[in-house]
Amino acid sequence: MIDKRSGEVSNLEVPDSDATTGIGHTRWSTHGPPTDINAHPHTDCTGEIAVVHNGIIENYDVLKSKLSSHTFESDTDTEVIPHLLEAELKSDTSLREAVQAVVAQLEGSYAICVSVKSRDEIVVARDGSPLVVGYGDGENFVGSDVTAFLEHTQTVTYLEDGDVARVDDGDIEVWNGNQKVERDVERVEWEAEAAEKGGYEHFMRKEIHEQPTALRQTLSGRIDISAATADLDLEFEEAFLESIEEIQFVACGTSYYAALYAAELLERFGDVRTSVTIASEYRFGGGRDPYCTLTVAVTQSGETADTLRAIRRAEAAGARTMAVTNTLGSTVTREVDETLFIRAGPEIGVAATKTFASQVTTLALFSVFLGRARGGISAAKARDVLEDLQRVPGAIQQALDREREVIDAAEKYEDSRSFFFVGRSLGVPVALEGALKLKEISYAHAEGFAAGELKHGPLALVTPETPVLGVLTEGANPAETMNNVTEAQTRGADALGCVSSDTRFRTLDVSFSVPDVGVAEPLVANVYLQLFAYHVANLQDRPIDKPRNLAKSVTVEWLVISWNSRVTKPETHMRTQHKHAF
Ligand code: F6R
Repeated sequence: MIDKRSGEVSNLEVPDSDATTGIGHTRWSTHGPPTDINAHPHTDCTGEIAVVHNGIIENYDVLKSKLSSHTFESDTDTEVIPHLLEAELKSDTSLREAVQAVVAQLEGSYAICVSVKSRDEIVVARDGSPLVVGYGDGENFVGSDVTAFLEHTQTVTYLEDGDVARVDDGDIEVWNGNQKVERDVERVEWEAEAAEKGGYEHFMRKEIHEQPTALRQTLSGRIDISAATADLDLEFEEAFLESIEEIQFVACGTSYYAALYAAELLERFGDVRTSVTIASEYRFGGGRDPYCTLTVAVTQSGETADTLRAIRRAEAAGARTMAVTNTLGSTVTREVDETLFIRAGPEIGVAATKTFASQVTTLALFSVFLGRARGGISAAKARDVLEDLQRVPGAIQQALDREREVIDAAEKYEDSRSFFFVGRSLGVPVALEGALKLKEISYAHAEGFAAGELKHGPLALVTPETPVLGVLTEGANPAETMNNVTEAQTRGADALGCVSSDTRFRTLDVSFSVPDVGVAEPLVANVYLQLFAYHVANLQDRPIDKPRNLAKSVTVEWLVISWNSRVTKPETHMRTQHKHAF
């Protein structure tokens, strides 16, 4: 039985069934509009072979032209896969062999999942898109992300590029090429409840409120006050750490802003030159003389295609590499020399919140660690910074406890025409992140920039209908930023500011108080901006956890889709999983 619908997953009504295998997929439209016909799964001419696919088949038109006797129904690239399978699947071929023969013809990136009517097995394959299998009790699972089936099992295997796996209710067998291979079975330490809403209306608000806990996990066991350093379990040799001439960050979106924050800290404490490049814009070298470079990929998912591509370029050019990620077993962790886990726990809301805080905090620890290794920071200063970091979870809790003030501000400004976010120094990445959060979940126009840039152009857009939000805390040059905020106020704009608790800017229309945590104050200010974005979007009744056109993991360079599947014992009630729908 196949049922598929455009729109929300809730549009689909999956009836009770005694089937033992099932596949499901939430598709993002790349080839063809989001219609019922273009929804997954896609089938062959007989309707017996069903396929879901995350990725892009770049040579699908060439393959399709070779299948001239086949009738295609959709506009998708995916549909060639079941038709190719129809040609390969003979009575004496196993489904796994047929899938291997088909994927050998595909160009592009894919994680696919194949189910054939009346067979109690599914076969999956990956190349360039994430794929994880989960081991249940008499039932097994496959997903593009472990959170899809975390409520059923924490025991998983992350498949690698080129892997084809046969999954039924027993053992899971994995092949790579003609070889049967053994892949590590790992235990994910995330609890199932962490991937549930736990009484909150939206994952995003839950995840904003989880930040104190997430940061305690991030910091746990990593601060060594007596040695005035951070213990990050990195295996870089001392000589290498001392010889680094430049740290290059590559990242996208919110992770890029976390990298901007971190780069500033590394310049201050790590005694090292830094650069931060949007991963999709990254080109290594360009004919420069070779020098000692560490390239750091900041990526919550560890699967962002642009970031993976950038880190591969850096590696090919001879740089040492490190990943800062939330995701055990993710592709980036297999490709870099060292990994720093941010330990934020699962983040389900499409908009990154707690992972930004954990990324910045992890990299703040790294800046102290590097500064101590290179002599860029004194023991006394390092202790101050580490003690400030230890106080951040409590400071964020204090900000969260004042959520009512943010709701009042959201009610006052929700209908504004545009929002401007400004800051200086460590306030710049937070201003950029504040604007991104607001635009992505509320759809309001919002722009973030360095406060000094207001007068170089954006001021022309400032009117009484365009509130300006300033990051006015320590670490963000508050007095100078306030001058720029005042420039906007004199053009009639209302001004909202996140202000250090010991400072007053009396002319602000709304102030949010940030406890004293030194260079981490802009990070706490960011919590107010997250709440502001959330409540504006909530007042507008937006689909906050799944904003239009966006996805949690951007696993190819221009689209994303995500799916998950399950194989159960025959007597187990079967239901197709749609939980991990983006
Ligand atoms: C915004 C957001 C995105 C991601 C970006 C990178 O709220 O979540 O901008 O930050 O797609 O994703 P990762 O960190 O997984 O590489």
